[in-house]
Amino acid sequence: MHTNDKSGIIDSMSDDVSQSESTEADVVGEPGLALARSQAKLAEMAGQHGDSPQSGRRVVFGLEDVSVSYSGMVAIRDVAFDIHENLATAFIGPSGCGKTTLLRSMNRMNDLIQGAEVAGRITYHGQDLFGAGVDAVEVRRRIGMVFQRPNPFPKSIYDNVAFGLRIHGMKDNLSDRVEQALRHAALWDEVKDRLKHSALSLSGGQQQRLCIARALAIEPDVILMDEPASALDPVATLAIEDLVGVLKNDYTIVIVTHNMQQAARVADMTAFFSVDADEKTGNRSGVLVESGPTSDLFIRPSDPRTEAYVTGRFG
Ligand SMILES: Nc1ncnc2c1ncn2[C@@H]1O[C@H](COP(=O)(O)OP(=O)(O)OP(=O)(O)O)[C@@H](O)[C@H]1O
Ligand SMILES: [Mg+2]
Repeated sequence: MHTNDKSGIIDSMSDDVSQSESTEADVVGEPGLALARSQAKLAEMAGQHGDSPQSGRRVVFGLEDVSVSYSGMVAIRDVAFDIHENLATAFIGPSGCGKTTLLRSMNRMNDLIQGAEVAGRITYHGQDLFGAGVDAVEVRRRIGMVFQRPNPFPKSIYDNVAFGLRIHGMKDNLSDRVEQALRHAALWDEVKDRLKHSALSLSGGQQQRLCIARALAIEPDVILMDEPASALDPVATLAIEDLVGVLKNDYTIVIVTHNMQQAARVADMTAFFSVDADEKTGNRSGVLVESGPTSDLFIRPSDPRTEAYVTGRFG
């Protein structure tokens, strides 16, 4: 577990595989040894989450034969697995395998994309997310989303967090709600004296935590994060990873990442996707290769494609 204090971050970074990848082993011409060490470190991190972190937990999302297409072109198909409460679940896989597409289906953001169509069933606490009478706006309130690039509005820090609260009519105790959200996002101490300043005056890492605060303010149940740290430096990245570790106590988190260390570090459960050519049509689309406890995927993957990906030999 990393801490948010600077020395904690630096300590944990020096212990990180990304730092140890070019160690004396490389210098003396033994890249195989460096690779083995980084694999051992990944396995150690993945093992921290236990063998079956999902056991006894409620299912938040049930994905049943889910396929998503854009104007008839299948982007991702045949996805089936469950996502459990108060865990962090990572989506990993090569570019274009449909991670963002699947994530956007889980809070009906795909409704806003022309031509996007979801087949199969996605349940949320047992209810069909696309069923008759389900209000997509309410779905997006309960299932918040944080994007790859921090996207604060050109408004004050305060107004960014208050934005969703005002839209959803959650205006009682507005200042308290804003403070709570900023505290939850581990940003309060850095911004409490400049709440009226423009959000655009914040650093990239602070902007991303502000976007997390904005998502938290409207009291969601789930936070979907699409590569939330990919535009950030290593220190800001670790701050986001620490935050995921804390937030999962209160929320269910799904996080897309290209970073294997990040998946091994923060995710209790992992789903690995790949790109496959359809036998009949030859069209390429994303497929789920395997999903389960992060320790299984990183230490004892059941599919050779998973092993190749997590060991960096593919993708
Ligand atoms: N709005 C869209 N309209 C049409 N096709 C799209 C749209 N968004 C994504 N696609 C297609 O769907 C497929 C999956 O894309 P997606 O962005 O979900 O992949 P990804 O796994 O998130 O990739 P990356 O790791 O690069 O972010 C790709 O072939 C992409 O071209
Ligand atoms: Mg993506």
